[in-house]
Amino acid sequence: MKKNDSNIKKAVKYLNNNDCIGLPTETVYGLAANAYSNKATKKIFSLKKRPINNPLIVHYYKVRDLKKDCETNVNFYKLYKAFCPGPITFILKLKKKSKISKNVTNKKNTLAIRFPSHTIARKLLKSINYPIAAPSANISESISPVSKKDVIDEFGNKIKFVLDGGRSKIGVESTIISLVKTPKILRLGGLSISALEKELKMKLRIYLSNNSKIKTPGSSKLHYSPGIPIRMNANMIKKDEAYLLIKKKLRQNKNYFYLSEKKNLMECCKNLYKTLRKIKKLGYKKIAVEKIPNQGFGLVINDRLIRASK
Ligand code: TXA
Ligand code: MG
Repeated sequence: MKKNDSNIKKAVKYLNNNDCIGLPTETVYGLAANAYSNKATKKIFSLKKRPINNPLIVHYYKVRDLKKDCETNVNFYKLYKAFCPGPITFILKLKKKSKISKNVTNKKNTLAIRFPSHTIARKLLKSINYPIAAPSANISESISPVSKKDVIDEFGNKIKFVLDGGRSKIGVESTIISLVKTPKILRLGGLSISALEKELKMKLRIYLSNNSKIKTPGSSKLHYSPGIPIRMNANMIKKDEAYLLIKKKLRQNKNYFYLSEKKNLMECCKNLYKTLRKIKKLGYKKIAVEKIPNQGFGLVINDRLIRASK
Protein backbone atom coordinates (compact mmCIF):
# COMPACT_ATOMS: atom_id res chain seq x y z
CA MET A 1 0.00 0.00 0.00
CA LYS A 2 2.79 2.43 1.01
CA LYS A 3 4.51 1.77 -2.31
CA ASN A 4 1.28 2.53 -4.20
CA ASP A 5 0.92 5.82 -2.37
CA SER A 6 4.44 6.95 -3.17
CA ASN A 7 3.94 5.98 -6.81
CA ILE A 8 0.77 8.03 -6.94
CA LYS A 9 2.66 11.00 -5.53
CA LYS A 10 5.25 10.52 -8.24
CA ALA A 11 2.52 10.33 -10.91
CA VAL A 12 0.96 13.55 -9.63
CA LYS A 13 4.32 15.29 -9.88
CA TYR A 14 4.68 14.33 -13.53
CA LEU A 15 1.10 15.35 -14.32
CA ASN A 16 1.49 18.70 -12.56
CA ASN A 17 4.57 19.22 -14.69
CA ASN A 18 2.49 18.74 -17.90
CA ASP A 19 4.00 15.33 -18.62
CA CYS A 20 2.16 12.22 -19.84
CA ILE A 21 2.10 9.03 -17.76
CA GLY A 22 0.76 5.49 -18.21
CA LEU A 23 -2.41 4.96 -16.17
CA PRO A 24 -4.03 1.61 -15.32
CA THR A 25 -7.80 1.37 -15.72
CA GLU A 26 -10.14 -1.61 -15.55
CA THR A 27 -10.62 -1.53 -19.34
CA VAL A 28 -7.17 -0.79 -20.82
CA TYR A 29 -4.19 1.38 -19.83
CA GLY A 30 -4.43 5.06 -20.72
CA LEU A 31 -1.86 7.66 -21.77
CA ALA A 32 -2.79 10.30 -19.21
CA ALA A 33 -2.31 14.07 -19.04
CA ASN A 34 -3.95 17.15 -17.49
CA ALA A 35 -7.11 17.73 -19.57
CA TYR A 36 -7.07 21.46 -18.79
CA SER A 37 -3.54 21.96 -20.14
CA ASN A 38 -2.85 22.66 -23.82
CA LYS A 39 0.79 21.77 -23.38
CA ALA A 40 0.14 18.41 -21.71
CA THR A 41 -2.63 17.28 -24.07
CA LYS A 42 -0.58 18.23 -27.11
CA LYS A 43 2.02 15.70 -25.96
CA ILE A 44 -0.58 12.90 -26.01
CA PHE A 45 -1.18 13.44 -29.72
CA SER A 46 2.48 13.52 -30.65
CA LEU A 47 3.40 10.48 -28.53
CA LYS A 48 0.52 8.42 -29.93
CA LYS A 49 0.94 9.79 -33.47
CA ARG A 50 -2.78 10.44 -33.22
CA PRO A 51 -4.57 12.62 -35.80
CA ILE A 52 -5.52 15.88 -34.07
CA ASN A 53 -9.12 15.55 -35.24
CA ASN A 54 -9.67 12.47 -33.05
CA PRO A 55 -10.94 13.76 -29.68
CA LEU A 56 -9.91 12.31 -26.30
CA ILE A 57 -11.83 10.79 -23.37
CA VAL A 58 -11.64 12.75 -20.11
CA HIS A 59 -11.59 10.89 -16.78
CA TYR A 60 -13.22 12.23 -13.60
CA TYR A 61 -13.36 11.26 -9.95
CA LYS A 62 -16.84 12.57 -9.19
CA VAL A 63 -19.91 14.15 -10.80
CA ARG A 64 -19.38 17.46 -9.03
CA ASP A 65 -16.13 17.95 -10.98
CA LEU A 66 -17.72 16.85 -14.24
CA LYS A 67 -20.45 19.48 -13.86
CA LYS A 68 -17.86 22.24 -14.27
CA ASP A 69 -17.28 21.02 -17.82
CA CYS A 70 -20.45 19.29 -19.08
CA GLU A 71 -24.23 19.49 -19.11
CA THR A 72 -25.74 16.45 -17.40
CA ASN A 73 -29.22 14.99 -18.00
CA VAL A 74 -31.69 12.37 -16.71
CA ASN A 75 -30.27 9.53 -18.80
CA PHE A 76 -26.79 10.33 -17.57
CA TYR A 77 -27.85 10.05 -13.92
CA LYS A 78 -29.68 6.78 -14.55
CA LEU A 79 -26.61 5.19 -16.11
CA TYR A 80 -24.19 6.81 -13.67
CA LYS A 81 -26.07 5.34 -10.71
CA ALA A 82 -26.21 1.91 -12.28
CA PHE A 83 -22.72 1.55 -13.76
CA CYS A 84 -20.23 4.10 -12.43
CA PRO A 85 -17.45 3.95 -11.73
CA GLY A 86 -17.06 1.44 -14.56
CA PRO A 87 -16.42 0.68 -18.25
CA ILE A 88 -18.75 3.22 -19.81
CA THR A 89 -17.99 6.50 -21.60
CA PHE A 90 -20.64 9.20 -22.03
CA ILE A 91 -20.74 11.83 -24.74
CA LEU A 92 -22.21 14.97 -23.19
CA LYS A 93 -22.62 18.61 -24.16
CA LEU A 94 -19.59 20.70 -23.30
CA LYS A 95 -20.25 23.82 -21.22
CA LYS A 96 -19.09 27.10 -22.74
CA LYS A 97 -17.18 28.04 -19.60
CA SER A 98 -15.40 24.66 -19.42
CA LYS A 99 -11.62 24.77 -19.02
CA ILE A 100 -11.05 21.60 -21.07
CA SER A 101 -8.20 22.16 -23.54
CA LYS A 102 -9.24 22.71 -27.16
CA ASN A 103 -6.84 19.91 -28.10
CA VAL A 104 -9.06 17.40 -26.29
CA THR A 105 -12.31 18.16 -28.10
CA ASN A 106 -11.13 19.03 -31.59
CA LYS A 107 -13.33 22.13 -31.27
CA LYS A 108 -16.47 20.02 -30.89
CA ASN A 109 -19.19 21.15 -28.51
CA THR A 110 -19.37 17.68 -26.97
CA LEU A 111 -17.03 15.82 -24.62
CA ALA A 112 -16.38 12.10 -24.01
CA ILE A 113 -16.11 11.45 -20.27
CA ARG A 114 -15.79 8.49 -17.97
CA PHE A 115 -15.31 7.43 -14.34
CA PRO A 116 -12.82 4.56 -14.23
CA SER A 117 -13.27 2.06 -11.39
CA HIS A 118 -9.66 0.89 -11.03
CA THR A 119 -8.55 1.68 -7.45
CA ILE A 120 -5.27 3.25 -8.54
CA ALA A 121 -6.93 5.40 -11.20
CA ARG A 122 -9.44 6.59 -8.61
CA LYS A 123 -6.75 7.34 -6.06
CA LEU A 124 -4.87 9.37 -8.63
CA LEU A 125 -7.96 11.30 -9.74
CA LYS A 126 -8.75 12.05 -6.10
CA SER A 127 -5.27 13.51 -5.57
CA ILE A 128 -5.46 16.18 -8.29
CA ASN A 129 -7.72 19.14 -8.99
CA TYR A 130 -8.09 18.69 -12.74
CA PRO A 131 -9.56 15.88 -14.88
CA ILE A 132 -7.34 13.53 -16.87
CA ALA A 133 -7.44 13.17 -20.64
CA ALA A 134 -6.44 9.61 -21.51
CA PRO A 135 -6.76 7.72 -24.75
CA SER A 136 -5.60 4.10 -24.78
CA ALA A 137 -1.82 4.02 -24.30
CA ASN A 138 -0.85 2.63 -27.69
CA ILE A 139 0.56 4.12 -30.87
CA SER A 140 -2.43 5.04 -33.07
CA GLU A 141 -4.12 2.07 -34.79
CA SER A 142 -2.28 -0.56 -32.79
CA ILE A 143 -3.58 -2.80 -29.95
CA SER A 144 -4.52 -1.23 -26.62
CA PRO A 145 -2.26 -2.15 -23.68
CA VAL A 146 -3.58 -4.16 -20.73
CA SER A 147 -0.49 -4.12 -18.50
CA LYS A 148 2.38 -1.83 -17.55
CA LYS A 149 4.69 -3.92 -19.71
CA ASP A 150 2.45 -3.43 -22.76
CA VAL A 151 2.64 0.35 -22.30
CA ILE A 152 6.43 0.19 -22.11
CA ASP A 153 6.41 -1.99 -25.26
CA GLU A 154 4.52 0.79 -27.05
CA PHE A 155 6.46 3.85 -25.90
CA GLY A 156 9.77 2.66 -24.45
CA ASN A 157 11.52 5.52 -22.67
CA LYS A 158 9.47 8.15 -24.53
CA ILE A 159 7.25 8.31 -21.47
CA LYS A 160 8.77 8.90 -18.09
CA PHE A 161 6.47 6.94 -15.82
CA VAL A 162 3.83 4.20 -15.86
CA LEU A 163 1.72 3.46 -12.79
CA ASP A 164 1.45 -0.30 -12.28
CA GLY A 165 -2.07 -1.54 -11.66
CA GLY A 166 -1.67 -5.16 -12.76
CA ARG A 167 -3.62 -6.71 -15.65
CA SER A 168 -6.70 -4.75 -16.74
CA LYS A 169 -9.70 -6.79 -15.56
CA ILE A 170 -11.94 -6.10 -18.55
CA GLY A 171 -9.27 -6.01 -21.22
CA VAL A 172 -11.18 -4.09 -23.93
CA GLU A 173 -12.13 -0.40 -24.08
CA SER A 174 -15.23 1.14 -22.51
CA THR A 175 -18.61 1.14 -24.24
CA ILE A 176 -19.35 4.63 -25.62
CA ILE A 177 -22.86 6.04 -25.48
CA SER A 178 -23.86 9.47 -26.73
CA LEU A 179 -26.42 11.18 -24.49
CA VAL A 180 -26.41 14.47 -26.37
CA LYS A 181 -29.78 13.76 -28.00
CA THR A 182 -31.53 10.37 -28.16
CA PRO A 183 -29.10 7.88 -26.58
CA LYS A 184 -27.05 5.94 -29.10
CA ILE A 185 -24.11 3.58 -28.92
CA LEU A 186 -20.91 4.74 -30.65
CA ARG A 187 -18.54 1.96 -29.59
CA LEU A 188 -19.10 -1.57 -28.29
CA GLY A 189 -17.02 -2.33 -25.23
CA GLY A 190 -16.77 -3.54 -21.67
CA LEU A 191 -20.40 -2.89 -20.72
CA SER A 192 -23.09 -4.83 -22.59
CA ILE A 193 -25.76 -3.09 -24.66
CA SER A 194 -28.45 -5.19 -23.00
CA ALA A 195 -27.48 -3.89 -19.55
CA LEU A 196 -27.74 -0.32 -20.84
CA GLU A 197 -31.06 -0.97 -22.57
CA LYS A 198 -32.48 -2.49 -19.42
CA GLU A 199 -31.51 0.53 -17.37
CA LEU A 200 -32.78 3.10 -19.89
CA LYS A 201 -35.85 1.00 -20.70
CA MET A 202 -35.36 1.55 -24.43
CA LYS A 203 -33.85 -0.11 -27.48
CA LEU A 204 -30.57 1.56 -28.36
CA ARG A 205 -29.44 2.44 -31.85
CA ILE A 206 -25.90 1.47 -32.71
CA TYR A 207 -23.73 3.68 -34.93
CA LEU A 208 -20.44 1.91 -35.32
CA SER A 209 -18.97 2.48 -38.71
CA ASN A 210 -18.24 5.00 -41.39
CA ASN A 211 -21.77 5.00 -42.77
CA SER A 212 -23.03 7.37 -40.09
CA LYS A 213 -22.62 11.13 -40.29
CA ILE A 214 -20.92 11.39 -36.94
CA LYS A 215 -17.27 10.57 -36.78
CA THR A 216 -17.42 7.39 -34.76
CA PRO A 217 -14.71 5.98 -32.53
CA GLY A 218 -12.26 3.63 -34.11
CA SER A 219 -13.81 4.16 -37.52
CA SER A 220 -10.53 4.73 -39.34
CA LYS A 221 -9.71 1.98 -41.85
CA LEU A 222 -7.34 0.16 -39.59
CA HIS A 223 -7.62 -0.07 -35.83
CA TYR A 224 -6.76 -2.32 -32.91
CA SER A 225 -4.27 -3.95 -35.24
CA PRO A 226 -1.46 -6.31 -34.27
CA GLY A 227 0.25 -5.32 -37.53
CA ILE A 228 -0.10 -8.72 -39.22
CA PRO A 229 -2.94 -10.03 -41.44
CA ILE A 230 -6.01 -11.50 -39.74
CA ARG A 231 -8.35 -13.98 -41.43
CA MET A 232 -11.83 -14.31 -39.85
CA ASN A 233 -14.18 -17.34 -39.64
CA ALA A 234 -11.42 -19.84 -40.33
CA ASN A 235 -12.36 -23.47 -39.70
CA MET A 236 -9.00 -24.70 -40.92
CA ILE A 237 -5.62 -23.09 -40.77
CA LYS A 238 -2.61 -22.86 -43.00
CA LYS A 239 0.79 -23.99 -41.87
CA ASP A 240 2.27 -20.61 -41.03
CA GLU A 241 -0.77 -19.18 -39.24
CA ALA A 242 -1.44 -18.73 -35.54
CA TYR A 243 -4.95 -19.99 -34.74
CA LEU A 244 -7.00 -17.82 -32.41
CA LEU A 245 -9.69 -19.85 -30.63
CA ILE A 246 -12.53 -19.07 -28.23
CA LYS A 247 -12.29 -22.47 -26.58
CA LYS A 248 -9.49 -24.81 -25.69
CA LYS A 249 -9.33 -27.66 -28.21
CA LEU A 250 -8.99 -31.27 -27.16
CA ARG A 251 -5.87 -31.43 -29.24
CA GLN A 252 -3.94 -28.18 -28.73
CA ASN A 253 -1.11 -27.48 -31.18
CA LYS A 254 1.68 -25.06 -30.39
CA ASN A 255 0.26 -22.52 -32.85
CA TYR A 256 -3.22 -22.67 -31.18
CA PHE A 257 -4.08 -19.79 -28.85
CA TYR A 258 -7.34 -20.01 -26.93
CA LEU A 259 -9.01 -16.98 -25.34
CA SER A 260 -11.01 -18.97 -22.82
CA GLU A 261 -11.00 -22.59 -21.64
CA LYS A 262 -14.76 -22.95 -21.85
CA LYS A 263 -15.89 -20.39 -24.41
CA ASN A 264 -16.78 -17.69 -21.89
CA LEU A 265 -17.02 -14.65 -24.17
CA MET A 266 -16.35 -12.14 -21.39
CA GLU A 267 -13.13 -13.98 -20.59
CA CYS A 268 -12.32 -14.00 -24.33
CA CYS A 269 -12.58 -10.19 -24.30
CA LYS A 270 -10.27 -9.97 -21.32
CA ASN A 271 -7.63 -12.08 -23.06
CA LEU A 272 -8.02 -10.72 -26.60
CA TYR A 273 -5.40 -7.94 -26.74
CA LYS A 274 -2.96 -9.81 -24.54
CA THR A 275 -3.11 -12.84 -26.83
CA LEU A 276 -2.78 -10.81 -30.04
CA ARG A 277 0.31 -9.14 -28.59
CA LYS A 278 1.74 -12.54 -27.64
CA ILE A 279 1.17 -14.00 -31.12
CA LYS A 280 2.90 -11.01 -32.70
CA LYS A 281 5.84 -11.29 -30.31
CA LEU A 282 6.27 -14.98 -31.06
CA GLY A 283 6.95 -13.94 -34.64
CA TYR A 284 3.84 -15.28 -36.41
CA LYS A 285 3.17 -13.45 -39.67
CA LYS A 286 -0.54 -14.29 -39.98
CA ILE A 287 -3.52 -15.00 -37.72
CA ALA A 288 -6.55 -17.14 -38.49
CA VAL A 289 -9.57 -16.70 -36.21
CA GLU A 290 -12.17 -19.32 -35.39
CA LYS A 291 -15.81 -18.24 -35.95
CA ILE A 292 -16.98 -16.20 -32.98
CA PRO A 293 -20.69 -15.98 -32.12
CA ASN A 294 -22.11 -12.56 -33.00
CA GLN A 295 -23.85 -12.01 -29.69
CA GLY A 296 -23.09 -10.55 -26.27
CA PHE A 297 -19.38 -9.96 -25.81
CA GLY A 298 -18.77 -11.89 -29.04
CA LEU A 299 -19.97 -8.69 -30.77
CA VAL A 300 -17.13 -6.75 -29.18
CA ILE A 301 -14.50 -9.31 -30.18
CA ASN A 302 -15.78 -9.48 -33.76
CA ASP A 303 -15.90 -5.68 -33.96
CA ARG A 304 -12.25 -5.35 -32.92
CA LEU A 305 -10.98 -8.23 -35.06
CA ILE A 306 -12.85 -7.13 -38.18
CA ARG A 307 -11.37 -3.63 -37.87
CA ALA A 308 -7.95 -5.13 -37.25
CA SER A 309 -8.27 -7.35 -40.31
CA LYS A 310 -9.02 -4.52 -42.77
O1 TXA B 1 -11.70 2.28 -21.95
C1 TXA B 1 -11.45 3.35 -22.49
O2 TXA B 1 -12.35 4.10 -22.93
C2 TXA B 1 -9.98 3.78 -22.60
C3 TXA B 1 -9.47 4.04 -21.19
C4 TXA B 1 -8.02 4.47 -21.17
O3 TXA B 1 -10.29 4.96 -20.53
N1 TXA B 1 -9.82 4.91 -23.44
C5 TXA B 1 -9.97 4.87 -24.79
O4 TXA B 1 -9.69 6.08 -25.42
O5 TXA B 1 -10.32 3.87 -25.39
P1 TXA B 1 -9.42 6.18 -27.00
O6 TXA B 1 -9.00 7.59 -27.24
O7 TXA B 1 -8.49 5.14 -27.42
O8 TXA B 1 -10.83 6.00 -27.63
C6 TXA B 1 -11.80 7.01 -27.43
C7 TXA B 1 -12.69 7.16 -28.62
C8 TXA B 1 -11.95 7.73 -29.82
O9 TXA B 1 -12.01 6.82 -30.89
C9 TXA B 1 -12.69 9.02 -30.15
O10 TXA B 1 -12.94 9.14 -31.52
C10 TXA B 1 -14.00 8.90 -29.38
O11 TXA B 1 -13.72 8.10 -28.29
N2 TXA B 1 -14.47 10.20 -28.92
C11 TXA B 1 -13.84 11.08 -28.11
N3 TXA B 1 -14.56 12.20 -27.95
C12 TXA B 1 -15.69 12.05 -28.68
C13 TXA B 1 -16.84 12.87 -28.94
N4 TXA B 1 -16.97 14.09 -28.40
N5 TXA B 1 -17.80 12.37 -29.75
C14 TXA B 1 -17.68 11.14 -30.30
N6 TXA B 1 -16.63 10.32 -30.10
C15 TXA B 1 -15.64 10.76 -29.31
MG1 MG C 1 -7.67 3.66 -28.57
